[in-house]
Amino acid sequence: MKEKINNIRQEAEQKIQQVQDEDGLKQVEIDYLGRKGKLTSLLRELKNLGEEKRKEVGKMANQVKEDLSGLIEKKRQEVSSKKDQDFTDVTLLGKKIKRGHLNPLTIIQNELEDLFASMGFMILDGPELESDYYNFEALNIPKYHPARDMHDTFYIDNSSLYSSSDKNQENDLVMRTHTSPVQVRGMQKYGVPFRGVVPGRVFRNEDIDACHEQTFDHMEGIIVDENISITHLVGVLQELINRIFKKEMNTRIRPGFFPFVEPAIELDIECTVCGGKGCPSCKHSGWVELVPGGMVHPRVLEYGRVDTNKYSGFAFGLGTTRLAMMKYGIEDIRMFNSGDMRFLEQF
Ligand code: FA5
Repeated sequence: MKEKINNIRQEAEQKIQQVQDEDGLKQVEIDYLGRKGKLTSLLRELKNLGEEKRKEVGKMANQVKEDLSGLIEKKRQEVSSKKDQDFTDVTLLGKKIKRGHLNPLTIIQNELEDLFASMGFMILDGPELESDYYNFEALNIPKYHPARDMHDTFYIDNSSLYSSSDKNQENDLVMRTHTSPVQVRGMQKYGVPFRGVVPGRVFRNEDIDACHEQTFDHMEGIIVDENISITHLVGVLQELINRIFKKEMNTRIRPGFFPFVEPAIELDIECTVCGGKGCPSCKHSGWVELVPGGMVHPRVLEYGRVDTNKYSGFAFGLGTTRLAMMKYGIEDIRMFNSGDMRFLEQF
């Protein structure tokens, strides 16, 4: 009898070890510990033994039953935790993956690049960390010129770049305040005739409000060729407005002042957010300053190594971020750099 019980124990332990899932385990439990199971059936035979023997074998059989129950329970936990890990409910709806969106500034920049490329302009790039020379000096804004106050400049302390023997090295790096430095860089690099646009980020240490940012986008435009006049500039700007807004827009041109163009103009557009009534987006004026421009100053042409007797040119500096505000009716300029998906998803 004892031998039979030991055989059952061995057999059951082996089965428990081999089993892989809950159903299989349930079956092993029924086969050995169930009402008609092997161990239970054997226990029924105990009554045929003498009292002494019955006590001894009974104790042994109960111990085996207890051990097997413990093993089955342990295996059950193992199988069920494995099941949790492996389980994939293929009927569940998948998680929606958020797709990125182009910033409206990127959309409008692409549109502008296509437009100007179709008019024969090169698309140029320039450094955001710019030298004082290109950002100001070569644009006819010498040091201590009052026009520097128009730009709230982030000056970069680059003294740590120089060794102590270079202490007199001029500390002349700025975050570019406009894309105009590429006027002179472009003329120097490509010579004349020259026709280019320069999209890019610019930086100003300004107070931020609904229509002013510290990091915003410009697009410089410049043509230098023979017989260029201001009417060419006005024509290009009108074409720009018509093609971007795809409808007749109310604009106005007024005199401006920039040391690197003479004469200078400012083209404003009627505010599309309030329809010209006045709102925070247009500083309650009904008009938004969009594109200043003018005839390139002869001194700037000279910095660009251009023969001023033969060539003239015009330049403009489109406020791309303001243009995007007007095109899409965005009331607050701060939305562009907010990274807010609710805003971006609309484009
Ligand atoms: C300039 O930066 C000149 N370099 C433009 C230029 C180029 C003039 C070539 C003549 C010839 P201004 O500082 O006005 O100009 O800036 C140009 C445009 O940028 C403005 O008309 C306006 O639309 C936009 N702008 C200016 N400041 C901000 C600001 N803080 N936030 C958003 N847009 C701005």
